[in-house]
Amino acid sequence: MQKKVLIIGASGQIGTELTLKLRQQLGNDNIVASDIRNGNYEVMQSGPFEILDATSKEDLLRVVEKYHITEVYLMAAMLSAIAEKKPKSAWDLNMVSLFNVLDLAKEQRIKKVFWPSSIAVFGPLSPKKETPQDTIMNPSTVYGISKLAGEHWCNYYHEKFGVDIRSIRYPGIISYKTNPGGGTTDYAVEIFHGALKYKKYKCFLKEDAYLPMMYMSDAIKATIGLMNHEKFNHYTSYNIGAISFSPKEIAQEISKHIPDFEMSYTPDSRQAIAESWPQSINDLRAREDWGWQHQYELPELVKTMLQGLHYTIK
Ligand code: SER
Repeated sequence: MQKKVLIIGASGQIGTELTLKLRQQLGNDNIVASDIRNGNYEVMQSGPFEILDATSKEDLLRVVEKYHITEVYLMAAMLSAIAEKKPKSAWDLNMVSLFNVLDLAKEQRIKKVFWPSSIAVFGPLSPKKETPQDTIMNPSTVYGISKLAGEHWCNYYHEKFGVDIRSIRYPGIISYKTNPGGGTTDYAVEIFHGALKYKKYKCFLKEDAYLPMMYMSDAIKATIGLMNHEKFNHYTSYNIGAISFSPKEIAQEISKHIPDFEMSYTPDSRQAIAESWPQSINDLRAREDWGWQHQYELPELVKTMLQGLHYTIK
């Protein structure tokens, strides 16, 4: 049977590139992009696109039935910094959309689900360096609480109802096609826009705020790789790591290409969020269970971002 994929949140940072990659692999007509708002021109023109509110089960069912969807990637979410400002809406969006999709899978209307978790599931008491897969988890943000609860719900639906749900704890994702919005790791994308437009950037984190990060194509590779993996012995949301750097380190790497680039620091409330998260991730389990491997290191990531954005901005 032909796979028919629905991507929810296809106008967002990861959803945009995931849609384009899956269309390349499976054919444009087999990947239905959807979001509550319009998105990237290429996404909207290259295949089916639906305006969809993922918190409405009716709306979701309408699209699933219309296209005979077999797999759903639920990429819509409110990220960490913005969720602190709108706790109730963040909880509703992040959880109601998840229940809607999990229930469709439980009712056997779809066969497989991808749902992203985050490094935000960890908290102040979790080990900071090489944070393991299983450890103390005491998230201190609304976003982290929703992701940790979501992981447990995915586990529950898998155990009780046999739902095939796959999940990854994404680190900060860096890309140039679509901007992230409302996250704590967003500085590592904004910095490139600042560097190319103004040769300076005012960072909202401290210079030594180390966080786990990843280039977009590695994140897409992980997502599709996990979804295509044959069989797992047990459900878990996987830690995946790639690189880890501080604002100061990425600024130094950018200076190698733009020598007069100037970075300044005015930490705001996002600094406290960053301090509650891991600085680096241990992803041994993902490497062992399904062969996860990252490709991009910091120098290559910086070069690719500057080249990619150069054409978008100028
Ligand atoms: N990038 C996300 C954020 O900063 C973390 O998953 O909120």
